[in-house]
Amino acid sequence: MKNVDVIMGLQWGDEGKGKVVDVLSERYDIVARYQGGANAGHTVKIKDNEIILHLIPSGILHEGVKCVIGNGVAFDPYVFVEEIEYLKKVGIEVKDRLFVSERAHVVFPYHKQIDRSREKHSNKPIGTTARGIGPLYTDKYRRNGIRVGELFSDNWKERLLNQIEFHNRILEELYNDEGINPNSVIKEIEILKDRIKEYVTDTVYLLNKWNDEGKQILLEGAQGAMLDIDFGTYPYVTSSSPTTGGALTGTGLPWHSINDVIGIFKSYTTRVGKGPFPSKMDEKMENIMREKGHEYGATTGRPRNCGYLDLVALKYAVKISGVTMACMTKLDILSGMEEIPIVVGYKLDGKEIEHFPSTVSDLERVKTIKKNMKGWENDISNIRSYEDLPKEAKEYIEFVESFIGVKIGYISVSAERDGFIEI
Ligand code: IMP
Repeated sequence: MKNVDVIMGLQWGDEGKGKVVDVLSERYDIVARYQGGANAGHTVKIKDNEIILHLIPSGILHEGVKCVIGNGVAFDPYVFVEEIEYLKKVGIEVKDRLFVSERAHVVFPYHKQIDRSREKHSNKPIGTTARGIGPLYTDKYRRNGIRVGELFSDNWKERLLNQIEFHNRILEELYNDEGINPNSVIKEIEILKDRIKEYVTDTVYLLNKWNDEGKQILLEGAQGAMLDIDFGTYPYVTSSSPTTGGALTGTGLPWHSINDVIGIFKSYTTRVGKGPFPSKMDEKMENIMREKGHEYGATTGRPRNCGYLDLVALKYAVKISGVTMACMTKLDILSGMEEIPIVVGYKLDGKEIEHFPSTVSDLERVKTIKKNMKGWENDISNIRSYEDLPKEAKEYIEFVESFIGVKIGYISVSAERDGFIEI
């Protein structure tokens, strides 16, 4: 049975996944997150309210949908409890609709502190979101992480104290920074674990049971393919796998249950944090784009760097993720441009190359080959059918579609829930 679709970002995150997941969620029984943590920021605009969720899947905004935080997620109990409170305040009931994997690893305050200290003292900072993501996954693979389920074992305090001691040594001896107060962390976690207890379960079992029952499941990726720990612009990446492989290891669902992999990309490109960005615009154009597209981080508020749509990177992202259907977002932001440059090739040391380079030094030397597409004048944010889009906008969509070799099935033309065109 193929009941599972994956939805994921194809650029450097911030592709507008939150909104697309929100729109598509009502077609599913279950929405599950599989990687990343509170470094994500999914923004959904409903009437005059802007709702930003960092950890809980945005599917929670649909009453009939159950949401899962899968085993691959970096689970921050502080953010989780805050978001539950926030959702309750805006009238969204999460009881019996929200499930947290007991296998997910817990983000503790020392992870966040180490994230900050490492960035501060490194001569090559990554520009992380400071949400403790890198240190959390380091602990997971070093095999000294603490999983959600372990918080409910008899020796959780001893385990946590050991870890605090270990991380405090790193903070104090390596970074010369202040360590974490063990007593306050223990006290906080004691309270938090009672708050999260009712949500914690074996989600691997649960998701597979629902899958066997024929329930429709959407797996929601955070960040994007170009930030993937293996395939992204390493080391300027996040520490998990936002691509399709991560959706399997982060949920425990079998590969043969996957139907569509829906890849989301913006009609242009943005990136926050540091790292190579071949299609970056000149500063003047970037400033215009940033204001028009409100390109400021949902998690950190940082201004995002802006660039033209990079089809070399996009095609690569489509390949490594096995995307079967694409969705272009924020097409309305391009309105009013006479010409829209689009990257169709890379030259490295004067030679055109076919592949997406794997090293930062190559990516920094790459020169882009651009094609100018014709722009359109009028605002398109109120258009709701493909036929009604300006001819030039359709040409833009069709050109991208033929370049990446995947059907663009959805277009988003405004931040509103209904600003969505299905082709
Ligand atoms: P980390 O995930 O906080 O370790 O940050 C690593 C890199 O990923 C940095 O460049 C961040 O700006 C970027 N990043 C992490 N999460 C997101 C996201 O949700 N959107 C865009 N960039 C992100």
